[in-house]
Amino acid sequence: MTYRTMPKVELHTHLEGCAPPSFIRGLAAEKSIDISGIFNADGTYAYRDFDHFLKVYEAACTTLQGPQDFYRLVKAVLEESASHGVVYQEAFVSPDFCGGGDVAAWRDYVAAMEAAAAEAEAEFNITLKAIVTCIRHFGPDAAKPTALCAAETFGDFITGFGMAGGELAGRPGDFAYAFDQAREAGMPLTCHAGEWGGPDMVADTLRDLKVQRIGHGINAIKDPALLEQMAEAGTVLEVCPGSNVFLKASGGWAQHPIQRLRDAGVKVTVSTDDPPFFGTTMTHEFEMLAKTFGWGDEDFNDVNQNALAAAFCDDETRTKIAKRLENR
Ligand code: ADE
Ligand code: ZN
Repeated sequence: MTYRTMPKVELHTHLEGCAPPSFIRGLAAEKSIDISGIFNADGTYAYRDFDHFLKVYEAACTTLQGPQDFYRLVKAVLEESASHGVVYQEAFVSPDFCGGGDVAAWRDYVAAMEAAAAEAEAEFNITLKAIVTCIRHFGPDAAKPTALCAAETFGDFITGFGMAGGELAGRPGDFAYAFDQAREAGMPLTCHAGEWGGPDMVADTLRDLKVQRIGHGINAIKDPALLEQMAEAGTVLEVCPGSNVFLKASGGWAQHPIQRLRDAGVKVTVSTDDPPFFGTTMTHEFEMLAKTFGWGDEDFNDVNQNALAAAFCDDETRTKIAKRLENR
């Protein structure tokens, strides 16, 4: 079995961040939107650093203007993921980019994305669940209608709530109202922390937002007591090594803390975050983990099992995906 064909469970992707540049250029041409400035001469996304990345990301999102565009996006993204052996994927979706946080508009976007996911499941044999995320640098007030959108559409397809965006904007506790709203609706929770912030950001996120999973969390490596707390609580990290290396949130692959986090007893999983932005795929992540840390079948099975156990899905889906992992 090759790295490409090994089955993979991926918990941390941003739906719009999975859009190939050619897909976004196509939408821009259809709508006569000039976003040529966000591309390099070779057609890849162009940005200088993380803050600029967020701006380029939002510029790309301006080409996605209605439910039909999101339908096409979901189909394109899942076809690509399935071609890299991904059997189950979770993607962050944002009402802020889909109708501006209006619940009625959001329902139409969800219906389109869910229909596309059902078709992709039949065509490409991959399951998608979606996690509604508020955007941290839009502020705590914008997070409230986003959490309402999440709670109103929580079900078979929208299965969790979280937060992405500029991590250094405010403290986790500023967003407690939105996370409380989602938790009270019964939603499982995740939040980006410790990608740019220190271990204190991870600790405060766990304490104030009561999430089960942390997006990235790599800077927890700097605090042994926090590692022990996370290992004991079973906190799951959605680690995205290629993203961290590309954005310089960590040193190179050899310096990346993913193996040291595992050695400390923390449950880690592996994801791509925004693959075309970071020149990665799940195949590339697995290849680099094998090359850098000597990971083999047992290690890949371990991260897949961690991901499946922590997936925000119903038990029927979990059982179905477990069978696909067994038959690898
Ligand atoms: N939005 C898209 N990608 C992101 C990342 N890596 N961190 C925070 N917000 C994001
Ligand atoms: Zn992310």
